[in-house]
Amino acid sequence: MSFGLGRGRALDPGEIGLTLDDLPPLPDAPRASAAVLDPRTWYPHPERPFEIEIGTGKGAFLLEEASHRPEVNFLGFEWAREFFQYTADRCRRRGLENVRVLHADATEFLHWRLPDGVVDVVHLYFSDPWPKPRHHKRRVVQDRFLADVHRILVPGGELRIVTDHEGYWGWMEEHFKRWTAPEGVEPSGVLSTEFRVPSNSDSELRTQNSELRLFERLPFGAAHRPGAAAEGELVGTNFERKYAREGRPFHAAVLRVVRGRPEHSME
Ligand SMILES: C[S@@+](CC[C@H](N)C(=O)[O-])C[C@H]1O[C@@H](n2cnc3c(N)ncnc32)[C@H](O)[C@@H]1O
Repeated sequence: MSFGLGRGRALDPGEIGLTLDDLPPLPDAPRASAAVLDPRTWYPHPERPFEIEIGTGKGAFLLEEASHRPEVNFLGFEWAREFFQYTADRCRRRGLENVRVLHADATEFLHWRLPDGVVDVVHLYFSDPWPKPRHHKRRVVQDRFLADVHRILVPGGELRIVTDHEGYWGWMEEHFKRWTAPEGVEPSGVLSTEFRVPSNSDSELRTQNSELRLFERLPFGAAHRPGAAAEGELVGTNFERKYAREGRPFHAAVLRVVRGRPEHSME
């Protein structure tokens, strides 16, 4: 299906757009270190802070943020081919050297390929809500995803989320409860009492009584608002603009890795 985003003009992702064919293939044993690749090397200045956006859509956020903050490297993930091409084409035409757009499932890329502790901020805005219960497994926010985000973030790194969808927000809140420290517990300390932690499988929770690395939950405040967002906007994505016109209320959260390097196993 074509959305006609190019309006008759061929979209050209150029060097900005990458597909999985541009990357080394996954080895047979995918959690092997050969699977891991560092996207910071894709930029002229790999040493710069690195932020990712999951689900760029038409790319308004990525384009404006990357233009506004040339000192940061941005990687956008978009699995819908035409939106990927459209976003990469827009960034190419703007002449941005600090952006790459990857045509891939972000959750799989995070899980299998991103190294530990390399990302400063993960942006997840207006992620598809998949409202039918049988489709909930397609939602980006899952226990495995939060474990992966915790692992790839630098100490102090943040996951920033905005959604308009009540049902998905309730789902996120349930997941956040499992991944943020209860009151009185150090977010990155040793828990002396039993605490339920998500296992790799979303349906199964196990009980653990050892060291846990958790997020600290913060309100989405002025410090998290992108500089490129317009007056009254939270993040300035295409969907925020569309839903704001419809008068929909929004929910937003920030999960921050407090300190220490995560020690997740590669199981
Ligand atoms: C509802 S749109 C929101 C787009 C944009 N963030 C905004 O706020 O305007 C969600 C986008 O995320 C993309 N998407 C959803 N899950 C994805 C995944 N796992 N990996 C990459 N892209 C994904 C969809 O194709 C879609 O373009």
